[in-house]
Amino acid sequence: MKDAAPSMVLLSEYRAPDWCVEHLDLHFALDPAETRVESRIRVRRAERAGPGAALRLHGQDLELLRLEIDGKEPDPDSVTVDAEGLLLAGLPETAVIRIETSLRPEANTALEGLYVSGGSLCTQCEAEGFRRITYFPDRPDVLTRYRVRLEADAARYPVLLANGNRVDAGELPGGRHYAVWEDPFPKPSYLFALVAGDLACVSDRFTTRSGREVALEVYVEHHNRDRCDHALASLKRAMRYDEEAFGREYDLDVYMIVAVDDFNMGAMENKGLNLFNAKYVLASPETATDDDYVHIESVIAHEYFHNWSGNRVTCRDWFQLSLKEGLTVFRDQEFTTDCTLFGVKRIDDVQRLRAFQFPEDAGPLAHPVRPDHYAEINNFYTMTVYEKGAEVIRMLRALIGRDVFRRGLDLYFERFDGQAVTTDDFVDVMAEVSGRDLGLFRRWYTQAGTPRLSAGTRFDAETGVLQVDLAQQTPPTPGQKEKHPLHIPVRLALLDRDGSRLPAQLVDGPEMSTPAMSEWVLELSADKQSFKLHGLRKAPAAVSWLRGFSAPVSLDAGQGTDELAHLVAHDDDAFARWDAAQTLLRRAVIARVEGAIDATLEAALTTAMAALLEDSAVEPVLLAALLELPSHRELMESFERADPVAVDGARRAVEKAVFAPLAERLVARTPDRKRWDDGAFTAEAMGQRRLLNRILALRVAVGAEGAVAEAARQYREASSQTLAMAALAAVNESTDPVRGELLADFERRYRNDPLVLDKWFALEAGSQVGDGFARLERLLEHPGFRWPNPNRVRAVLGPFMAQNHRHFHQADGTGYRRLAGYLEQLDALNPQTAARLAQPLTRWQRLEPNRSAQMRAVLEQLAGKDLSRDLADVVQRGLAR
Ligand code: BES
Ligand code: ZN
Repeated sequence: MKDAAPSMVLLSEYRAPDWCVEHLDLHFALDPAETRVESRIRVRRAERAGPGAALRLHGQDLELLRLEIDGKEPDPDSVTVDAEGLLLAGLPETAVIRIETSLRPEANTALEGLYVSGGSLCTQCEAEGFRRITYFPDRPDVLTRYRVRLEADAARYPVLLANGNRVDAGELPGGRHYAVWEDPFPKPSYLFALVAGDLACVSDRFTTRSGREVALEVYVEHHNRDRCDHALASLKRAMRYDEEAFGREYDLDVYMIVAVDDFNMGAMENKGLNLFNAKYVLASPETATDDDYVHIESVIAHEYFHNWSGNRVTCRDWFQLSLKEGLTVFRDQEFTTDCTLFGVKRIDDVQRLRAFQFPEDAGPLAHPVRPDHYAEINNFYTMTVYEKGAEVIRMLRALIGRDVFRRGLDLYFERFDGQAVTTDDFVDVMAEVSGRDLGLFRRWYTQAGTPRLSAGTRFDAETGVLQVDLAQQTPPTPGQKEKHPLHIPVRLALLDRDGSRLPAQLVDGPEMSTPAMSEWVLELSADKQSFKLHGLRKAPAAVSWLRGFSAPVSLDAGQGTDELAHLVAHDDDAFARWDAAQTLLRRAVIARVEGAIDATLEAALTTAMAALLEDSAVEPVLLAALLELPSHRELMESFERADPVAVDGARRAVEKAVFAPLAERLVARTPDRKRWDDGAFTAEAMGQRRLLNRILALRVAVGAEGAVAEAARQYREASSQTLAMAALAAVNESTDPVRGELLADFERRYRNDPLVLDKWFALEAGSQVGDGFARLERLLEHPGFRWPNPNRVRAVLGPFMAQNHRHFHQADGTGYRRLAGYLEQLDALNPQTAARLAQPLTRWQRLEPNRSAQMRAVLEQLAGKDLSRDLADVVQRGLAR
């Protein structure tokens, strides 16, 4: 391997920087073939550092043309060149360092540092991309002010952008021009960005609550200029929301968003100049689905919210990544809940958490929300750091209360403005404002693994006391054999026969008691604990556990079918109601996988679903969610080891058994297709379309009469992509020739529209019908397929692994071997994307013995190859038993 033993970075070895950078001046002579970068760094030795302290400048794949210290060439003995970059010794207390480097943006397929996308030059610096541009202390705790001069060909690159405010611009001889940008806010290097291109600018304005006028500018390729309205509207909503819900205001005169086609991630929060994967900017009703609209809005909001949670207050080191990402995900989730999706947002988020984060936390790549070692930081932008990190923040709020939490956030932003801090600093502030001991709570940051929560109740009719028994246990994870109890907030309520909530009094300890309420947050902080609810006249008909999913745990409350069905019918907490249905459906699938059809359970499910379909009080969007089965990924977690093809089969069989008898009721409950086919971005319209599409998918899946024909009609008549795509997805597993006709039509129509064409690639790659390997080959030979474009590669390999179980998990291991071959090929171009796509190959421990051995063998083979550090790290950790 290129780096035989990737060296570990350890949290315990963190040391504050010995040198501060007081100012940074960057001059770019931009050209795709060769770009020259001149950097002028003013440094000062930190007081704590001794006079002998050397200055570390990181650098990677750079050509060094010139190095000067205080105007002179340095003594060669004082300069060490190593794998990390440069080490300068013998510097005076303050010095000015001039460095000239040369880069080849055109040859940069890793898409980190300065690269070319669609004819524009652009940068991606998080986490450690700045070191591919110039030698610099490329660590988040070195903050400085930037002045950036960009120079380029005026015809090819009329637009020149960098962070902050443009302070100068002008013409130069030879058809070139320049612009100078100054960012008044000190920032770490990972937030640096520049863009040079021939781009259209779609603009708008926003007035902050204190009266600052902000220019909003979205830069896209000219032919996309009419697809920016939703992005701009989303940005304005996010800016207003951050003021109202979090008291945070924008701080520069301009906020720019640039869309690029080639991007490793979703988007990046560079100060004042966000870079976005085009798929999270561009939208029109014909080319984007409701889900796309919602994602765009939430990514725009997420990157905007980083301006405070990440940029104004940043991370001390990369172990603290969740400080900005977990908090910002929490903030964007709140935004989407309050502005767009309301009750169903929590359900979507829990679905994601269970399908992606729980498996990560149970597998070989498990790590704490705040990791304490890494070989490659790019591999730690994970579901755990992001989604579990957001859950930890949510639990904090549940424990200290909304108002105190908000005061804590205000204090956090005020106290640490302009600083690089830690997750401990964050919790300290919350402890300070709440006066609570959060010592045990901090373990959520350091202990990996999903806790298993067992819950039960015992009612004493004589005393009217309900005893609630809770117990927790976390399974071991790599490097953490011993687990300790966590501080877990368990929100619950008791439902009566008629579905109303029963009031009771929580008696907490011998004398402490609280007034009678109808919902409680029990705080479990030991292995086992009991609580008492007093004043009940009768036993509850059902216990509504973990309302709003108050903690990221897997719950076993041992509830029977009747109790769960009661919750499905009546629970007023949308999440708990949906979760009761999920538990029943999961049990039915597990029974089938284990070879024992539970006909009684399936019949009870049919009855419960029939009642929901009849109940006009259930909102369409919630009904759509209630009609969904747990995902394949989530179901795989229910077994120690499983055959993924069998799980898929059982899941489909349960779907059929439960819903086939409801074909007529499904039709009766279908929203009026013509009426809602308008692409309107409102909760009501999106909810109706979600239900419409879920019912169509169900009808096709159960083989209902005329369903395939109806899907074809819906596809042909659709004016919004939400309906067109759903129709295609509904027939994607059908053997009816209509599938091929519709997909071919879709390809013809959108051949030249990359974002839409990605969806065609995804449908084809994910379909299990016919010869999936031949189809995969054809996809890779399609004129639109490009290995250097991450969206396109992900569109093919992602669904092939996630949905095409029959081929990816073909028992002879063909699917695993094919994938490994593609990954090796991709790794040579784009290590980050290869490492991400390799993750499904680390799930071998959860497969039945034959496939497990096949997958492991493929990983072992990969481990023997010459891989990037990114991919090697995933492969090596993935092999650990
Ligand atoms: N800071 C990240 C982008 C990033 C991650 C850049 C890793 C480089 C390496 C950004 O704020 C982010 O989190 N983006 C997410 C989308 C977001 C809505 C969760 C992404 O890109 O997936
Ligand atoms: Zn982020």
